[in-house]
Amino acid sequence: MSQKTWSAVDDYLNDSIVRPDDALSAALETSRAAGLPEIAVTAAQGKLLNLQARSMGARRILEIGTLGGYSAIWLARALPAGGRLISLEYRAQHAEVARSNLARAGLADVAEVRVGRGLDLLQSLSGPFDFFFIDAEKEGYPDYFRGCLKLSRPGSVMVFDNVVRDGTVIDSASPDSAVQGARQLHEAIASEPGVSATSIQTVGAKGYDGFCMVLVNP
Ligand code: SAH
Ligand code: DHB
Ligand code: MG
Repeated sequence: MSQKTWSAVDDYLNDSIVRPDDALSAALETSRAAGLPEIAVTAAQGKLLNLQARSMGARRILEIGTLGGYSAIWLARALPAGGRLISLEYRAQHAEVARSNLARAGLADVAEVRVGRGLDLLQSLSGPFDFFFIDAEKEGYPDYFRGCLKLSRPGSVMVFDNVVRDGTVIDSASPDSAVQGARQLHEAIASEPGVSATSIQTVGAKGYDGFCMVLVNP
């Protein structure tokens, strides 16, 4: 099995059950044109986030790491009437691209992008949030876990992106700070008795990686 197969299967899924629409495609195109890194979740992954948020009835969603707003569109579309998404982004240029992409998707009144360091902005928020998607700098993941826990309620769900990283997560001696961030996330979760969690390895158009899903125990 190879990257070529994984990408071809994502193409097949996009054409059959995932069906990303024009607003999502435009979000990727404008992000690329603006020179943003091409590291958004795939369509199938965005749809999974959408289904996770919808299936638990999320009304308040917090995202950390907006980029061009691609995952934010999937998440904001999961909200019922009156629901809100707040997405935190360090780079003002990324936030601008994201706001315009959210507006094109008709989500300007539902989704708000705040600019600043995720950890700083977390302190200014009041919870509870029902659903969290954490996808900013991987070094911050253990702190994001603790910060999001403070903004949660029993039954809240957190999803962390990029926790497997080509399998390097098992390398305790890795000099890569992103790998150490993913490892410290798993350690922080393991020593927190109030949550239940798993990580799922994934392959697809964005290679081999994985998601961590955390339930704050009801
Ligand atoms: N969730 C997006 C991808 C996010 S990429 C999607 O799937 O569509 C990671 C983003 O996190 C980048 O835009 C980067 O600028 C931002 N970021 C990096 N460090 C950050 C920090 N300390 N606080 C907030 N955002 C940060
Ligand atoms: C990177 C970040 C991401 O959020 C991602 O999904 C893929 C790659 C990165 O920083 O390299
Ligand atoms: Mg990511």
